Formats: sequence, C-alpha cells, structure tokens
Amino acid sequence: MASNTQVSAPTTGISQPVSSPLTKDAIFLVLTINPGDQSRASVLSLCADLSALLRTVGFRALEGALSCIMGIGSDAWDRLFDLPRPAALHPFREIRSGQRCAVSTPGDLLFHIRAKRMDLCFELAMQILTRLEGAVTTCDEVHGFRYFDDRDLLGFVDGTENPIGGAAAEAVFIGDEDPAFTGGSYVIVQKYLHDLDAWNKLPTEAQERIIGRTKVSNIELGDSVKPASAHNALTVIEEDGREIKILRDNMPFGLPGHGEFGTYFIGYSRSPRTIEQMLENMFIGRPPGNYDRILDFSTPVTGSLFFIPTATFLDSVSSVRPEEAESSTLVEASTSPAPSTSSSLGIGSLKGERSYE
Ligand code: HEM
Repeated sequence: MASNTQVSAPTTGISQPVSSPLTKDAIFLVLTINPGDQSRASVLSLCADLSALLRTVGFRALEGALSCIMGIGSDAWDRLFDLPRPAALHPFREIRSGQRCAVSTPGDLLFHIRAKRMDLCFELAMQILTRLEGAVTTCDEVHGFRYFDDRDLLGFVDGTENPIGGAAAEAVFIGDEDPAFTGGSYVIVQKYLHDLDAWNKLPTEAQERIIGRTKVSNIELGDSVKPASAHNALTVIEEDGREIKILRDNMPFGLPGHGEFGTYFIGYSRSPRTIEQMLENMFIGRPPGNYDRILDFSTPVTGSLFFIPTATFLDSVSSVRPEEAESSTLVEASTSPAPSTSSSLGIGSLKGERSYE
C-alpha cells in the first residue's frame, strides 16, 4: 500500500529493548487485528501509549525490570501505516521437508513481555489486552519460565552462545542497509512441543551429539566428535568468513498435567534471512538430508515473523480514538508541519525520546 508515500514518521530512533538481559519470566502474546476501522484505531492508539502503560505497571516494582517489545507482522504493517515498508518484512514462509514442517501461522502483533516476576508480566498483558478488547483475537499465548541453570526442557543449557554487548546490538539492529528503519529489528517466533518420553529414552551421549554440547557441563563438543547434523553446527551461519549471530531468548513452558512440554523459540536479528537460513539448515538439512535431529523429538506448532519498529516510532504514532475511527482514513498529525494527504498517516510530535529499558 502506497509504498512511495512521503514518510512523515521518524521510523528510526531509539530502539526497543531487544538486547536487554534474559529474565526469569516472560509472556509471549501473538494476536491478529480484527476487521474494521475501530480495531485499527485501537491498535494505533495502543502503539502510542505502550510506553506509558509499561511505566504504569513497571513502576510498581522497579526491581522487577519489566520490559515489553512490540512487533508488527507484514500484513498488519500495510493495514496500520500508510508508509514505506521495512525492506525485509514479509510473512513467515513455511519450510517443509519429509516429515518435518516449520509451519507458518497467523500473527499481526507480537508482545514479548519480560520481567523478573511473573506478576508484572501478567499485569502488563492484562492491561494491553484490556486496551485492545474487541480489536484483536489472541492466536497464541505462552507463559515461559527459566528452568534450572537456564536449561530447556530437553535438559540442556540454552542461550550460551548468544552475543552480548556491542556484538548483540550489531546482530539485532538494522543499520545502513535500510536507512529508513535504522534501529529497528526483526523477530521470528516458533512454539515447539517436545516428545519428552522419547527424548528421555535416548542415552545422554546421543542427546549430546544432537545438541552439540555436553549436558551437565555445557561444553561444546570438539570437531572430532560433533556430527555435522548437531544443532549448534547447523545453526552457525557464516558469510565471507564471518559468523552472523542472532539473539535468542528461548523459554521453557508447559502443562505437566496435560503432558505438554515445550520450548518457545524467539530469535531477533537485523535480517530475517539469517534465521530463515538456520531454519532451512535445521529442517531441510545442510547438505539436504543432514537435518537437525532435535526435530525428531520437537515439533513447531506456530511460526510467525514480525518487524520491531523503534520505540521512537511507536511513541510517535498519532493516536486516533476508536469512536473517531469511522472516518479514520486520515489520521491527522497534531503538530507535525509535514503535509498530510488523505492517504498518508500523519505522525505527530514525539511524546518523548526514551528507551523502554
Ligand atoms: C526445539 C527448539 C530449540 C531448542 C530446544 C534449542 C536449544 C539449543 C541449545 C541447547 C543450544 C546450545 C547452547 C546455546 O548456545 O544456546 C542452542 C544453540 C543455538 N540455537 Fe537452538 N534450540 C531450538 C531451536 C532453534 C531454532 C529454531 C534456531 C534458529 C532458527 C536456533 C538457533 C540456535 C543458535 C544460533 C544457537 C547457537 C549456535 C552456536 O553458535 O553454537 N535454535 N539451541
């Protein structure tokens, strides 16, 4: 939609806290936006107010380090904003090979809510959903927790090779390659369910060869013993001799009483291509057939891709009250001197340049 419309929004600016430290608790909410102008208006108004909601809840327990990252899916971007598109934004593409399938499932909005306390995550999720009542449908909601020593439910320490500091920022934030969206990011989420009975019947050494690390001490297997199909072999991506990293914040989740045991995979990257390449290596194999044996015990039941705009962008989205929405083809800027046309989203002045961190 109108990809050559004049950009009146600061699509660059202060990033959302993608690379903030791993937390003890998280809620992952994937929503679709319901039809109608009212729904669109509610979502736009939430974009602008998310930072205030976050302060409202987070201030009640500052030591809880509450944060929230909002992502926007490909179709939703066009529906919400009459602006050019982030260069690499597209719907998640299914990957199928033999019995294995990385499914693509609906998702217009992602909220990745993190804190050291679940009550904070829960309260913010409630506040967000109250604001969006009637405007969205929940496709998936997962409450994740940290498990002993940052282990996943397969029993392995998960997250060790994540980049940190400057390397994390380099891995996740868009730079000069898409100047209109510098400071933004992309995220892919997949909800995996494990067949823990089958996994736990494997000898530890066989599990270690699948993951590529030792189970108890978390040491990477040496090249002489690590198979080419090991998870940490297939997910290493090199370009021009340089490793391209992503940032993961996987979380275990489950319902023991229902036999549900899972890993919520969430990977941030400055280009979705890196994660897509990892997925192709895992599901199809590198070379084809040399696939990731984690997938003999783990099945993804969701898969979606989102763009993560900057916090500055979200803050500056002009809100339109739902009751005004019937005539909301024009969302007028309150103070922006930029000319608005009837087909462009006017973006008002910034409400304050700040990071959510
Ligand atoms: C069932 C789902 C998954 C589980 C249980 C899982 C578990 C693990 C574990 C235990 C490690 C080794 C420790 C570490 O460095 O974190 C690891 C590494 C890694 N995983 Fe996964 N993972 C899953 C899915 C994925 C997916 C879907 C991707 C990407 C598309 C991915 C990308 C990576 C990367 C990039 C590494 C680091 C490799 C390295 O540099 O050594 N993982 N994962």
